[in-house]
Formats: sequence, C-alpha cells, structure tokens
Amino acid sequence: MLSILLSSSSITTANTTTLLPSRPISTSNPPYFSTKTTRIRCFNVSCDATNGDQNQNRNRSPQNVQIDRRNVLLGMGGLYSASNLIPDVAPSFATPISPPDLEKCSRGTNLNTNEPLDINCCPPIAQYIDYKLPPVTKMRFRPAAHLASKEYIAKYEKAVRLMKELPDDDPRSFTQQAHVHCAYCNLTYEQKGDSELKLQIHNSWHFYPWHRWYLYFYERILGKLIDDPTFGLPFWNWDNPPGMVMPDMFAKKDSPLYDPLRNLDHLPPALADLNYAAKPSDNSKVIQNNLTEMYTEMVRGVSKPEDFYGAKYVVGSTPDPGPGTIERGSHTSLHVWVGQATKSGEDMGNFYSAGLEPLFFSHHTNIDRLWTIWRKLRGSKPKDFNESDWLDSSYLFYDENAQLVRVKVSDTLDQDKLGYFFQEVDTPWLKNRPKPRVKKSKIATTSSAPKADSVFPVKLDKVVKVLVDRPKKSRSKKNKEEEEELLVIEGIEVDSAKFVRFDVFVNDEDDKPDEIDKAEYVGCYSQVPHKNSTGVKSKIRLGLTELLEDLDVEDDDKILVSLVPKANGDDINIGGIKIIYAS
Ligand code: C2O
Repeated sequence: MLSILLSSSSITTANTTTLLPSRPISTSNPPYFSTKTTRIRCFNVSCDATNGDQNQNRNRSPQNVQIDRRNVLLGMGGLYSASNLIPDVAPSFATPISPPDLEKCSRGTNLNTNEPLDINCCPPIAQYIDYKLPPVTKMRFRPAAHLASKEYIAKYEKAVRLMKELPDDDPRSFTQQAHVHCAYCNLTYEQKGDSELKLQIHNSWHFYPWHRWYLYFYERILGKLIDDPTFGLPFWNWDNPPGMVMPDMFAKKDSPLYDPLRNLDHLPPALADLNYAAKPSDNSKVIQNNLTEMYTEMVRGVSKPEDFYGAKYVVGSTPDPGPGTIERGSHTSLHVWVGQATKSGEDMGNFYSAGLEPLFFSHHTNIDRLWTIWRKLRGSKPKDFNESDWLDSSYLFYDENAQLVRVKVSDTLDQDKLGYFFQEVDTPWLKNRPKPRVKKSKIATTSSAPKADSVFPVKLDKVVKVLVDRPKKSRSKKNKEEEEELLVIEGIEVDSAKFVRFDVFVNDEDDKPDEIDKAEYVGCYSQVPHKNSTGVKSKIRLGLTELLEDLDVEDDDKILVSLVPKANGDDINIGGIKIIYAS
C-alpha cells in the first residue's frame, strides 16, 4: 500500500490544478472554450449530410482521398512508435484515433446553455510511453458476482476501500479512475488530427476495446493495492436468470461497493430489466424478455462485425456514428436502470458519473465477457475488423504504477495475453430463438401504411409505421449466407443529455407492438445520457435474415416496420429507413 503510493509520487503528488494553470478550471472565459463552442454547434445543426450507408466521416482534406492510409502508417512506423516525440502529423495521414492531447482537455460545454460543465474530469498531465503487455505469470480470475465467495468479496471490498483512500490527485484513485470514463465520454478531449471535432469512444467500434482497457487497468490497480496478482473483477451475470438482480455485494449499505446515488427501487430482489424504458415493466415477462434480448444482441442481429461492434469511427468522424447491438440495448438499459430515476440519472445513468458507481465495473466486465463469448461463437467467420483504422487506434490510461501509457486496440484481441479468464456459467439465451406471434402474416401486403420515403424525417412522438421495400426477395440459402439483409435506420437525432429509447418491430400486427419476446421484435435504440448536451446523429443496422425466415415472409417484396417510442420520443427524430444487403 505504502509502496504503491511512494512509487508514483513524482507523477502524482502535484495537484491537477497547479500542474495546469491554463486549464479552464474556473468558469470565466476558459481558453479552450470560446473557440470550440461555435464549432461543435456546427455539428449540432449538422454540418455534414449523411451519405447513404457510409459512415459520417468528414475527410475534408482532399489528399486523404488519394492516400492509402495503411501505407502511410507503415511508412511512419518508426515515428509512430516513438511515442513522446511524435510531432502532430497531418490529420489526414493517420486516420485511426490516436491519444488526445491531455493539455487540451476541457470541461466540455453544455450546448443548450453554452455553459462549461460543472465538473472537471481532465486527468493529470504526464508524458506517455507505449504499453507493452507484461508477460503473464498468473492468470486473473473473474468470478460471476452472484457466485463469488465470502473471501473474494472481502478482498474486493478491501481493494476498493484502499482505492478510495488514495489521494484524489493520484491517477489511480477512485475519483480519478471515474474521471477516465467521464473524460473519454463527455466530449472533453479534442480529436487529435481534427480539432474541430471532439473525441467520443461510445456509439462506435471503440466501445469494446476501449472499455476492455479501462477494466484491465482498473483491475490491475485494485490487484496491486491488495498485493494479489490473481485478482480479477467480478462480472454481473445479467444475461443469466440467477444473475438478473443487482448482486448482493453491491447492495450492502456499509460496503465500499455501495453507491447511494441509485434507483433504490432496483435493489434486490428487483429483476434487472435489459429492455428498461424508465418505467417498471411487467415482472412476469422480464426474464423471458431478457433472454430474447440477449439472443437478438448476440446471435440474431449480428452476422456482420459492424453490427455487433458499432460503426467505424476514425479521425474526422463526428461523434456517435452508430452503436452495436449490446451497446444500444442491454448496456444502456442497465445503466439507466441502476441510476437514479432523475433526469440526469446519477451515478450509473449518466456517462460523466457512471465510473463513480462500483457496479459499473461489473456491468462492463460482463460486457467484456460477452464480447469474448461472441468471438468464440463466430467460429470461422470474421471476429473483428482487419483494418488498421481500428487495430491501430490508441488510447491513454494510467497503469497500476501510475505511469501514463498508450495502448492499442490490436492488443485487446488475445485475452490470454491480457492475463484473465472468466468463471464459466450458463448461457441460456443461446437456445432462445424467439417464435413469431403470427407466422406468414399478410400484414405487409395488406397494410395501408405509407411508404417509408413519404414519411421521413419524422419525430417519434408516436408510433410510426411504414412499409419498406425489399430490393431482393426469395433469396437462395447461399445468398443469405453471403449477405445479411439489414434494416438501416439512419439520421437518428436525439438530445444526448436525455435517456431515449425506441423499439423496432417487423410485420407486427399490433397497433402498438410491445412483445419483446417474439420474433417480430428486431431490436432497439437507446442512449445513455451525457452530461453535455449535443445533438447526436447516429445510424443503426438491424439484422433481418433470420427474422424473415422465422416469420416465413421471405417471398414478400416489402415489410411493415413499426418504430415504437419507449422513452422521450419527443426528443427522437429519424432521418430515414431502408433495407441493404451487406456481404
Ligand atoms: Cu462507457 Cu457503459 O459506458
């Protein structure tokens, strides 16, 4: 304990404020604030037109179009690895996301009020070095939280208590660790290479790798504090019925794992609702709905990596291009379910404060586990993106020795090298392929609903039903294996300061469909509130191939799509909807 404190004193004893006199700590005219406001607002009113199914990537520099980025990266190899000495390369050259310049961290702005945020989550500033995965001598064991032994819980509580006792300006302290999440999620960093844009690692393909690194270092810091190299974080096993309540260890008032800023109606034995929409759901259906949601997120809607991971996000991308299935589904639901039932939802229900909730780390450890399971389920199909724009993306974290390090996405892909494993538990959702409410429904061919083109853009203040043309029908088995039929909902604009959710159903005969546990349910969009309010413009893709088989409507040339607002529909606008085929 003492040694861990001493070893880092040179880096961490100085208070962030004194280290950084120029940082906008006070609210009066912060240096980084004045110029940014108008620029981000440009995004707010949508500077860029969405370009078909393309990612909203604004590669402004003309030279970017001609240059093969991978060659450029390879050519820069030497420079690229000499971390501290890297000059600011031209933005259009290195397109993967690179570490932000910590000196340019700002509080972020609430764009509704133009005021700086009332919290400062910028980390202490230091030089970074490139992180090398240390040799694994002992594996860390990550248990299911509801199965954890008394001894394990005592160890974990001790570690978190010690973390809370570290001085606030130690980058490994409980508060600073929470700020890591806040800073990367709350538009406080400039995107390096395109300073007109802010950095956001949610709602894109950074979701899994960034959070894996976050947990990795959090776990190592805890393990070091209790001098246990085998310590692993517990996972909240909410995809499995015995784990579908808040784990007891987090619900004891006198524990360091307790957080008073929660929805107190959701302490045990309340059932965790993976489709939470800000109101209590029918208890008798929660477990079945949860299992169907998991099947949808892990199996049915995700034959292409983009649909599991989220959309491409590189230098020049506007924030939130599009979340993957888990991120926009069970992930958001449980954030909001755990947090207070207030507009800003502290702690867990808002990105800026989520890291202050110990349960956050178990929530994300389960997501990390589901990522590993998904990769295993893929067999010989692609498990991730073989693109340098993803693999070479890098982030900054403080490690267990309080050293600032740069880490790469490519190092997250081999869990053995990261040195941890999960307790084996049941995955009952795997066998939970939902049944149709109505097989061979004629609803799409007989409905008088308008065609999609004539309806969008539309505000989701009511259920919207539209007919969507299918460019291909009666596809062969081979064609279906090669190409996933996807329902694309684009131009989703929401107020990011609010929790929003809508559900999507195909060929559901109800006026207001709400049966999640049937094959007609194709997925949802939901969004964890951010502290700063910006316009989010997102796109989601929902897999249709298996659904259309199950409904037995593969020979129809259109489908009836119902968009059902579940939370703050007044704040959701949809730009368009269409069907594409992705190989
Ligand atoms: Cu970074 Cu669940 O949020």
